[in-house]
Amino acid sequence: MTDLLTTIPGPRAQAMVERDTAVMVPCSGRVYPFVMERGAGCEVWDIDGNRYLDLNAGIAVVSTGHSHPRIVQAIQDQAAKFIHMAGTDFYNEPMVKAAEKLTSLMPGDDEWQVFFSNSGTEAVEAAVKLARYATKRQNIIGFYGAFHGRSYGSLSITASKPYQRKGFFPLMPGVFHAFYANPFRPPWDVDPEQVAQYALDFIEHTLFTTTTPPEDVAAIIAEPIQGEGGYIVPPHGFWQGLRDICDRYGILLIADEVQSGIGRTGKMWAIEHENVVPDIITTAKGLGSGLPVGAMVARREIASVWKPGAHGNTYGGNALAMRAVYETLSVVEEGLMENAGSVGSYFMSRLHELEDRFDHIGDVRGRGLMIGMDFVKDQKTREPHSEMANAVMEEAFRRGLLLLTCGKSTIRFCPPLVLTKEQVDEGIQLLSETLEAVGA
Ligand SMILES: Cc1ncc(COP(=O)(O)O)c(C=O)c1O
Repeated sequence: MTDLLTTIPGPRAQAMVERDTAVMVPCSGRVYPFVMERGAGCEVWDIDGNRYLDLNAGIAVVSTGHSHPRIVQAIQDQAAKFIHMAGTDFYNEPMVKAAEKLTSLMPGDDEWQVFFSNSGTEAVEAAVKLARYATKRQNIIGFYGAFHGRSYGSLSITASKPYQRKGFFPLMPGVFHAFYANPFRPPWDVDPEQVAQYALDFIEHTLFTTTTPPEDVAAIIAEPIQGEGGYIVPPHGFWQGLRDICDRYGILLIADEVQSGIGRTGKMWAIEHENVVPDIITTAKGLGSGLPVGAMVARREIASVWKPGAHGNTYGGNALAMRAVYETLSVVEEGLMENAGSVGSYFMSRLHELEDRFDHIGDVRGRGLMIGMDFVKDQKTREPHSEMANAVMEEAFRRGLLLLTCGKSTIRFCPPLVLTKEQVDEGIQLLSETLEAVGA
């Protein structure tokens, strides 16, 4: 247990939750009553003065840690010069510098171009619109378990939890779903090594021969590691198989790196672990260290077909966000990406120790600092134990450790990339005590 000053939640936090409940729409579904006062790196303090170790980084957003001095400096400097001047109507250097930096970090040898958005879902919207525009085809293939956002286009591809779609039909037509290659819970009764091939065959030999002819498919969109769906790492070969299908039928391949990108997995893009170059990458979350920003980055050959006025927004290229993007990418490139790889391996090995000790931990998986711990009712059946995952999250909070769940029964670890081995040890100690307390 860390040295907490009050019972959790403390009196100030409780009062703030009441004020919030009165004026905020209730659809947010807060997971526990953490009320932030300030943060530094991987540490955060609530308004009652309690300190926590943050292993979720505001849902994988604060990539450089809370209030990294270089990001703060860049934002402050820019705020004193100018804050906004409509990036889709005029030019400004912070936007060009951010785009130059971002395109220089893209995989493969192609040239790339950027559209800046304010969020992940808008980056996905831009990708879908560009894919339809460039190919003159309508259909999009997404995956069960995927999360791409909540605006109508993205939501139509999102297939993670039914409550995200409930009450919002009809959604965008032309979306078809396939099975993600999940080696821990394969959608078919097959060995984990066969799951990628089955998933690929389903697209080519079921979808294409029954519901959507490949000539009508504009794009296949997938997350290199499924995020909200449960931190699912597909077997090697799955992405190459998707690339091959796309090449065979003239379909564009979109990698949604909103959660997995910006150094989190030890490489700038998670797709780089697969040696596959997609046609479009969407990014957000870690891109601006907490400033609201996203980007759709497409190979120039594809992006350049967009005529002026075909797409746009008001705040994309916002100067504060752009300075945060440039600084974030620099800091990540200069060492945080490497840190995510090495501290991530250490973290993973320590989590495997817990897996050996606790019966209800069914799987520990991930890459770099994108790690999932899956709870099961039974090691053999692997039936998801969602109550256990929730109990772990809530008990960890009371002990000074901030965690989040994803999928049906997974705790996700997506800390700031500045995490140290000492902080991993602190987190493991707190988690171990938590697991004992909930009877895991
Ligand atoms: C892979 C992925 N794509 C898109 C989104 C949507 O991003 P935003 O919430 O910024 O709209 C998310 C958010 O969790 C995501 O994980």
